[in-house]
Amino acid sequence: MSSRVKVVVTGAAGQIAYSLIPRLVDGNTFGDKIVDLCLVEIPQVVSKLEGLVMELEDSYFPNMGEVTYTDNFEEASNNADWFLLVGSIPRGIVYEGKKIEERSDLLKINGGIFVKQGEAIGKNGKNDAKILVVGNPANTNALIGKNSAGKESQLWMAMTMLDSSRAKSVISKKTGTNIKDVKNMIIWGNHSPTMYPDVENVLIDGELGKDVIDDMKWVEDHFLPTVQQRGKAVIDSRGASSATSAAKAALDTIIACENTTKEGNSFSAAVASDGAYGVPEGLICGYPLITLSDGSVEIKRDISMSEFAKKKFQISIDELESEREAVKHLLK
Ligand SMILES: NC(=O)c1ccc[n+]([C@@H]2O[C@H](COP(=O)([O-])OP(=O)(O)OC[C@H]3O[C@@H](n4cnc5c(N)ncnc54)[C@H](O)[C@@H]3O)[C@@H](O)[C@H]2O)c1
Repeated sequence: MSSRVKVVVTGAAGQIAYSLIPRLVDGNTFGDKIVDLCLVEIPQVVSKLEGLVMELEDSYFPNMGEVTYTDNFEEASNNADWFLLVGSIPRGIVYEGKKIEERSDLLKINGGIFVKQGEAIGKNGKNDAKILVVGNPANTNALIGKNSAGKESQLWMAMTMLDSSRAKSVISKKTGTNIKDVKNMIIWGNHSPTMYPDVENVLIDGELGKDVIDDMKWVEDHFLPTVQQRGKAVIDSRGASSATSAAKAALDTIIACENTTKEGNSFSAAVASDGAYGVPEGLICGYPLITLSDGSVEIKRDISMSEFAKKKFQISIDELESEREAVKHLLK
């Protein structure tokens, strides 16, 4: 294993990035590796990154390597190990006179960004680069990026870890279990209100959720809507989308990929379907994942789903298919 890692972060002057970037170099996320950072922003705000770099320098991070910033993604992508694609236009802001609330608007505005970034990652990123798309609509942005990159050895993911952590929190409160003992919370499908957080296969203090939570009314009326609508609830309250929790989730995804998954465990992210669990090939779909000792990340394939779960999952698969249809002009 290399003792240095190069990480590219887009949207580096944004809210999530402000919480995320310092913790990439704090010696926790990448262990004792030296972390080189390349921070990317759009030309209008790239100069703000000078201040962020000053703060990083002033923070005493012994594991921090070279830190650069640019508005040129192509240049930034050179030889990078990790790409955290946070930059995009979030829901809830006013863009060209219109409040952006619909996924269809987000798809249109953000889709184009990921064609160019994907091409650069395919051309310049490391062959085994890992790419985590955070910017929404994350699954379909990742689909566009992966397609444009055209390099199968690179791993494209869309972030569902935040949904998984939110669902763990709700389960922990319901059952009075410490959150550290709530494990394997799978998010099936899209990072959107159609996602299906798997209440049956979650491990609560070592026991399957389906054996602990015998309350389908609570699942349907409280658990699912709370988790599915949590992003909107935060926006409604803060007037801005989740930032510190999204940053933590991105870090948790990196940590899950950088370390071998313990026997019986899994973590959540969306990756390209190879037909696993009946999902049409190529869709970037939320799955349970495991990291093997050689560093590769695979879909965990031995999860059984009830008819209830399959029905809920199908709604999200259908949405992913319709999003793919909506951006097909951006796919090669
Ligand atoms: N997957 C998840 O769980 C999850 C959770 C929360 C937020 N999000 C999404 O993350 C994204 C970022 O959220 P935020 O709160 O940090 O937003 P923000 O508006 O504070 O920051 C976004 C930044 O991205 C920059 N940007 C836009 N286009 C860019 C490009 N082409 N290259 C580089 N930078 C670019 C903007 O200039 C801005 O500074 C949003 O799309 C939001 O919806 C995802």
